[in-house]
Amino acid sequence: MALLAHIPKTYSKLVAVSLTTNFKEAVRVQKFETPSPKSGELLVKARYAGINASDVNLTAGRYTPGIQPPFDTGMEGIGEVVQVGADCSDYKPGDSVGYMTAGAFGEYLILPSKFAIPLPKIDPGFVPLMVSGLTASISLDTFGELKSGENVLVTAAAGGTGQFAVQLAKIAGCHVIGTCSLDEKVEFLKSIGCDRPINYKKEDLKAVLKKEYPKGVDVVYESIGGDMFDTCLKNLSTFGRLIIIGFISSYKGNSFAPPIKAPLQSILLSKSACVRGFFLFNHIKEVPMHFAKLAQLYMTGKLISTIDLGKGHSSGPFRGMQGILDGVDYLYSSKNAGKVVVEVNGQDGDSKL
Ligand SMILES: NC(=O)c1ccc[n+]([C@@H]2O[C@H](COP(=O)([O-])OP(=O)(O)OC[C@H]3O[C@@H](n4cnc5c(N)ncnc54)[C@H](OP(=O)(O)O)[C@@H]3O)[C@@H](O)[C@H]2O)c1
Repeated sequence: MALLAHIPKTYSKLVAVSLTTNFKEAVRVQKFETPSPKSGELLVKARYAGINASDVNLTAGRYTPGIQPPFDTGMEGIGEVVQVGADCSDYKPGDSVGYMTAGAFGEYLILPSKFAIPLPKIDPGFVPLMVSGLTASISLDTFGELKSGENVLVTAAAGGTGQFAVQLAKIAGCHVIGTCSLDEKVEFLKSIGCDRPINYKKEDLKAVLKKEYPKGVDVVYESIGGDMFDTCLKNLSTFGRLIIIGFISSYKGNSFAPPIKAPLQSILLSKSACVRGFFLFNHIKEVPMHFAKLAQLYMTGKLISTIDLGKGHSSGPFRGMQGILDGVDYLYSSKNAGKVVVEVNGQDGDSKL
């Protein structure tokens, strides 16, 4: 018989107490009484949390206009069901689940069972498949219209979501160009099949694209914004598709979206090209099918899901609430290769602050 998990009377979570993109200023570690799940709810002991570039947009209130602190932080993780409310017959204590909900930056959370993603086991490799993997999978499938033999340019290619855009484009038979800022990331990109990694700190991206891809690139998976967006736009091929995944270069600034300097209308018209924005949470209906596909590819070894627990950070591997604070800083230092992940609770003990 399985042993019942010990549920502590109190638990810690990171609560946003002021609206700012400075994550460490925005949040405080606070203690709460551990709640009991109501009907349709699960009490989950968090095991691993995923760090996302947009964690700072969440604390700045950019995702929920008018929101005022205090509010929960974090948007994804995996954990173990420890208590089950009424009407949740699909779940039992000991089950492993994933979730993409606010409150992921806490040691425990109440999860409506309808939002739980069933997992075969606790494996941190499942964390990147959620927000990061789903964004790549759904956006490329819906807006990429990838055809075998096409050129695909992925920016922030070695990051949480970029790693999946690279691999899914390769699976679709494309030639993949990936940008990054460190030689270690160039090696990482080669290891996941990227055909032409470009360390843009060492090579001039505009010159490489002009020389090696004179007809332009067919699809761009663009996460950086600013000058990088302009360069990508100017290097689209005829019938090119540019997908706006994000614009991280301006998230820490005061103006959320940077102005586009390139002549958008004339470029798109003259090339019959298009720019599409993509936001995962508008595509929730597609999540189950794409998660099943990603999990299947991962479990059969056809997709590599790389996590970075802070190997390039003085306080890594990241653990507990302090690990989350450091993890957000780490992502913004641009040193991560793969998805930044934090072990919230160890297998047996609770997190250490
Ligand atoms: N639309 C959606 O639904 C959705 C969902 C998930 C993620 N995203 C977006 O995808 C992008 C990547 O997010 P992620 O969470 O996967 O992060 P990530 O790629 O793991 O990490 C961010 C990477 O961005 C690059 N970067 C370039 N300029 C930067 C700057 N000024 N500040 C910080 N990093 C910079 C760095 O890599 P280099 O070495 O390549 O410079 C850094 O490692 C973000 O724009 C994010 O908003 C969007």
